[in-house]
Amino acid sequence: MNEEVSHKIELLKESINKFDYHYYILNDPLISDYEYDLLYNQLLALENDYPEFITPDSPTQRVGKDLTKEFKPIRHLVPMLSLTNTYNDDELYDFDRRVCDNLPSDSVVEYIVEFKIDGASVSLRYENGLLVSAATRGDGVIGEEITSNIKTIRSIPLKIDIKKIPEYNLSKIEVRGEIYMELNDFRRLNEQREIRGEKLFANPRNSSAGTLKLQDPKEVALRPLKIFAYYLLSDSEEFQSQSENLEILDKLGFRINKQYQVCKSISEVIEVCKKFEELRDKLPYEIDGAVIKVNSIKQQTILGNIAKAPRWATAFKFKPKQVQTKLNNITWQVGRTGAITPVAELEPIFLAGSTISRATLHNFDEIVRKDIRIGDTVVIEKGGDVIPKVVGVVTDLRDKNSKITLPPIQCPACNSPLVKPENEVAFYCINSECPEQIKGKLIHFASRGAMDIEGLGEAIINLFVDKGFIKNFIDIYTLYQKKDELIQIERLGEKSITNLLESIEKSKTQPFEKVLFALGIRYVGAGVAKKLVEHFLTIDNIINSSEEEVSSVYEIGDSISKSLKTFLSDEHNINLINKLKNQGLIFISEKKEIGDSPISGKTFVLTGTLPTLTRDEASEKITKLGGKVTSSVSRKTDFVLAGEEAGSKLKKANELGVKVISENEFLSLLGEQKK
Ligand code: IVH
Repeated sequence: MNEEVSHKIELLKESINKFDYHYYILNDPLISDYEYDLLYNQLLALENDYPEFITPDSPTQRVGKDLTKEFKPIRHLVPMLSLTNTYNDDELYDFDRRVCDNLPSDSVVEYIVEFKIDGASVSLRYENGLLVSAATRGDGVIGEEITSNIKTIRSIPLKIDIKKIPEYNLSKIEVRGEIYMELNDFRRLNEQREIRGEKLFANPRNSSAGTLKLQDPKEVALRPLKIFAYYLLSDSEEFQSQSENLEILDKLGFRINKQYQVCKSISEVIEVCKKFEELRDKLPYEIDGAVIKVNSIKQQTILGNIAKAPRWATAFKFKPKQVQTKLNNITWQVGRTGAITPVAELEPIFLAGSTISRATLHNFDEIVRKDIRIGDTVVIEKGGDVIPKVVGVVTDLRDKNSKITLPPIQCPACNSPLVKPENEVAFYCINSECPEQIKGKLIHFASRGAMDIEGLGEAIINLFVDKGFIKNFIDIYTLYQKKDELIQIERLGEKSITNLLESIEKSKTQPFEKVLFALGIRYVGAGVAKKLVEHFLTIDNIINSSEEEVSSVYEIGDSISKSLKTFLSDEHNINLINKLKNQGLIFISEKKEIGDSPISGKTFVLTGTLPTLTRDEASEKITKLGGKVTSSVSRKTDFVLAGEEAGSKLKKANELGVKVISENEFLSLLGEQKK
């Protein structure tokens, strides 16, 4: 009986793998989704009844159940190198010359030109045909293990038939490739993120890399990632050529990009690069260049590497995509700090995967510098960023009656006169009642990285401010008193208001660092808020500290401390903090409790290079146990942790009689073993 079950499971796995291969690799489905689901569910049911027959390569094992708490380091068989870049024909000729100069004089060089896929590279290890681990590039030598996330990608085989390539022993191989997202899928993902008020991914590369590092494989499985494999390595075998490697990968069932070309000369390579650049806009995925590789593996070995890049390959980078369109208007936007930013309102135009109708003009100085006028034909460019830029004006096409753009005088939202601080480029609206500023502050306050109030996104905030329900942070926490009125608002309804009020209540558990960030103090971003909280532990400590004390905190500069102190010396703000405290928001660090740690409350200064710890690691250890790290030595300093080449800080410590300790002494102080 058991044998029968095991045989049935094997047959099901085989056919599902075959259907997956046709669907995900060949793009040529053999059966309907319905039929596929029937088979899959049969396998699932059998495995459920007979868990002893579940194997790691079963298609049901693609989505694991466990969350990854941390990604373990994994050393690559051979370092994952990066590529040098070339931008024009001359640089490609130089590359060719360097290649030829470093090979025996009678060598005939053949190149292979591939698409440079804009994604995230991964390395997959297969042992005896089974996928055993997968890693990100990391620093090139050590990557992070992301096997459970990689397994969810259906175009990556969990098992390969190495007997298909009898010429080589492929029992231990590493396959490398690019994980990417198609443009349509990328756009859809960003649209969903926008609706949910999440930060948008700048490009498909960021979205792929971000997805690979998600902690929940189930989330990863929902994201439409794909792979193009482009590299094959073996422990024991030396292959002939890159083109042969691609053929082997193809035969083994990997998804490769077939639009590669083998060229006999560099001029042929240049032609192919140009052809690829023209093809670029017609592809369903993003490529940001071409990769040119010496085809022969023997020649690759002779050429070797310089620093972190091979001598046998280079990337030809395409120019950023540009288009021309008409500048219909320049509008002025008020940010949450009151800064006024000019925005280009453009005649809508399609560029690099999306329709663009607005672009930032940064500040008024920029408009003057480029002499940008309403009605101009402008050149816009989309670089690595989602936000398009206006790079210049086509002056030949300018209407001779066009007028120079004048600086803004009044706030576009509240009409109050604007102010331009001397050392700044921006104009500011300084009316604290300005509705646009209020909206901006509230949007920031409720956002994901801050109070994380689900359901209180931009649209609802605009609506609530316009209807007079909220005008400051406190009003958010008293909204429940107006529940009946809120339910009456068209489109909202009881369910969504109940949910919103629940998430407002839940936001009261956000830790102090998030609350501090949510206040929207200038220069106090998420990272700075975290450092301040780690150092001062409570809002009262921050309020009672001097500006010098704040700027002595490790990595906190003068402009941050000044801005923080200005904010806290305003009575309105102190009032606001007190009211938020009364509402139950947290203004004390969770680490305040670490009273009995050996270094709790002690102040450290780090100097010199430590033998094993980086400064950040040492600093994290200190703050975790309730200690503080400051940047300058004073009588108040408890310990100077000094490494090699410690300079003036060490001298000062000796002068003031401050205790100086080594890394070893530091670790034993923390009760940790020497490494
Ligand atoms: S070969 C030493 N081939 O580009 C060989 N890389 O800056 C290096 N990439 O990290 C990799 N498409 O993420 C190679 N067809 C391709 C590629 C490719 C995209 C990426 C890869 C690499 C980066 C190099």
